[in-house]
Amino acid sequence: MFYLLFVIVFWGCENSSHTALEHTSQVPEWKKEFAGTYVSQINTPATYNLLSSCNKKPRVGAINELSDRKIPIDLTEIRSITKNGKTFLRFPLDKGEQLYGLGLNFKTVKQRGRIMRLHVDHYGGKDNGRTHAPIPFFVSDKGYGVLINTARYVDVYAGTGVRRDSNNPPVTKDRNDDPAWSPNPYSDNLEFIIPENGVELILFTGENMLEVVQKYNLYCGGGFIPPKWGLGFWQRTPTLFTDKDVEKEVKGFEENNFPLDVIGLEPGWHSKAYPCTFEWNKDRFPDPQAFVQSMDNKGVKINLWCNPYVWPGSNLDNALGKYHGSHTVWCGNVPDYSMKEPRELFKKHIQKHQLDIGVSGYKVDEVDGFDDWIFPDIAMFPSGLDGEQMRQTYANHVMSMTDELYRANNKRTYGLVRGANAGSVSYPYVIYNDYYSHRDFITALINSSFCGVLWTPEVRASKSDTEWLRRMQTTCFSPMAMINAWADGTKPWSFPEVYKGCQEVAFLRMQLLPYLYSTFAQYYFEGKPPFRAMELVEGYHSKVEEIATELDGTDNPYAKALMKEVKDQYMMGDYILVAPMFDDEVKRKVILPEGKWYDFYTGKLAGESEVIEIEPDINKIPLFVKDGGIIPMIEKVRNSHEWQMTKTLEVRIYGTRTGSFKLYDDDGKSYNYEKGEYSVKEFKVQNGQASVIDITSDKNWGYAAPKWKFMSQK
Ligand code: GAL
Repeated sequence: MFYLLFVIVFWGCENSSHTALEHTSQVPEWKKEFAGTYVSQINTPATYNLLSSCNKKPRVGAINELSDRKIPIDLTEIRSITKNGKTFLRFPLDKGEQLYGLGLNFKTVKQRGRIMRLHVDHYGGKDNGRTHAPIPFFVSDKGYGVLINTARYVDVYAGTGVRRDSNNPPVTKDRNDDPAWSPNPYSDNLEFIIPENGVELILFTGENMLEVVQKYNLYCGGGFIPPKWGLGFWQRTPTLFTDKDVEKEVKGFEENNFPLDVIGLEPGWHSKAYPCTFEWNKDRFPDPQAFVQSMDNKGVKINLWCNPYVWPGSNLDNALGKYHGSHTVWCGNVPDYSMKEPRELFKKHIQKHQLDIGVSGYKVDEVDGFDDWIFPDIAMFPSGLDGEQMRQTYANHVMSMTDELYRANNKRTYGLVRGANAGSVSYPYVIYNDYYSHRDFITALINSSFCGVLWTPEVRASKSDTEWLRRMQTTCFSPMAMINAWADGTKPWSFPEVYKGCQEVAFLRMQLLPYLYSTFAQYYFEGKPPFRAMELVEGYHSKVEEIATELDGTDNPYAKALMKEVKDQYMMGDYILVAPMFDDEVKRKVILPEGKWYDFYTGKLAGESEVIEIEPDINKIPLFVKDGGIIPMIEKVRNSHEWQMTKTLEVRIYGTRTGSFKLYDDDGKSYNYEKGEYSVKEFKVQNGQASVIDITSDKNWGYAAPKWKFMSQK
């Protein structure tokens, strides 16, 4: 037991004139579980919570490999009060401390100063907590983070409320004559309301924020490695497509020489939808098995759109009958997938109709809301859960059922989902939505790295050629490279003027697959998010005071740029900085963290610890590589099947610093990697000399000896 402290203090007792406000508050007791991981149970938490809805176990070994940093705040300053069936929580904030996370936000990265209710919903244009993945986990740049493990809606006051007992109260100002008056005076606390009598908190420490996130991810079961085909190009076809239409679509990709690994079928493949039957429509797909097989023979996997609401009177509905909740969605029944029996019945049904014929996975739609497109909070379920608990966790259940089933078949899946919550890190799903703001899509990609989810800036349609190309470029530098043409029927070549650029970036993604796959291996083994905010990069300063002293924040443009929220650049893995362009933009600024950074395409020095302005070739998404960066690449392939056939590996080396890269490989399709069936070789470069070290090797190694390419030599 690490720490035991349970004292009764008064919230407000520091100022004796506040007696009317006094309430008994607790200093929560923390128990150390693993390296830098502490748990606190306030009163008796509900047994149903976010982590219990996911059934995953912490990856203890991997967590214990990370630092055991002490908690960097005074624990007596964390307080809780239980009153009126609610838990009120408070954490201290320092001046200049910044907060990240608190769900998949689309407009903001820094969360201090915001008020939110964390509530699963379709994103509605405001960062108010209603989002697809409203994960109640925050990360502080002091080097710690906390998960509030509750399946209830959580209210957050992220440094907004000004307490009368503050240690550092703001100065009262007269608005009449003081221009420094602010409607939002300084607040030094982060407060939460959880509408339950008790709650479990899990606190993670880290030497930096990346390590805090890694521990959170590993605690939830770690990341995952997608099947190799999942990282190729995806095309979703329009609704009501038939097998013949799909064949034509696939042929178009061959004729136009564009990468393709997955076709996603949108509504129309179910015999009825919405709600869904999870059985094939025999008019459009008379022989589903032959269809899926013929696609597989062409190297194309089939992914199926669905929503989890069940068509009344269908076979699935009849089987699940006694496990439905009290309310319907689009007249469809809502099974209680928190219970074992309906889970097994659902799994049996989709095994027979889809997995047995080779379907690769699902797109799970409509598990987020809107409020009038989902069951209400007053719904009741046979397990005893209510609509609020179910709303917060329905996506977790659908992901976990399909994850269990694909695991039982020893086949990896990779799919899409429109909702998620804490605990779902290891489920092989990527979040998407209908919101379609390109810039905000990139902010979401950045934020996804603070909350253990993946996000795709999918492409649908565009108003101009350049917008189409820019969107194609960013989707190719995301966890899932995808056109979702369900409504518009667009194809990569829909904008012929920019087709060359679209082809170039899609093939570049394919060439980078060994790098990307190894980056996902880090997600699984170490919990490192594959796509990361700049704040998670070593040498990127985000703390205002540090900048002010170290870099002279007053007139240093680098320091000034850092003080703003950076929502238009991010990292893919350890080495590649992605700085996308939007719409008709021809120039942009890029913040290069400490150390030297090189242009990915030319290997030329781009700058160091500075803000550069670039005016790139329209066909090239701006990419920069860290000094010592090692990037393994294959030749241009159209799909993962060709990837597995190619042996040649070009390994690009950038800059002059000593560097290393662990190239990972496995069978690309089964879960055997979790049993140790994989190979890793470490590429090292030191004093201009490159070498390879075998870390572990088995039969799963698909590459020939590397051809080194020193990109930055004059
Ligand atoms: C939406 C979904 C789209 C598409 C569409 C089909 O809910 O976000 O991506 O699947 O349904 O009806």
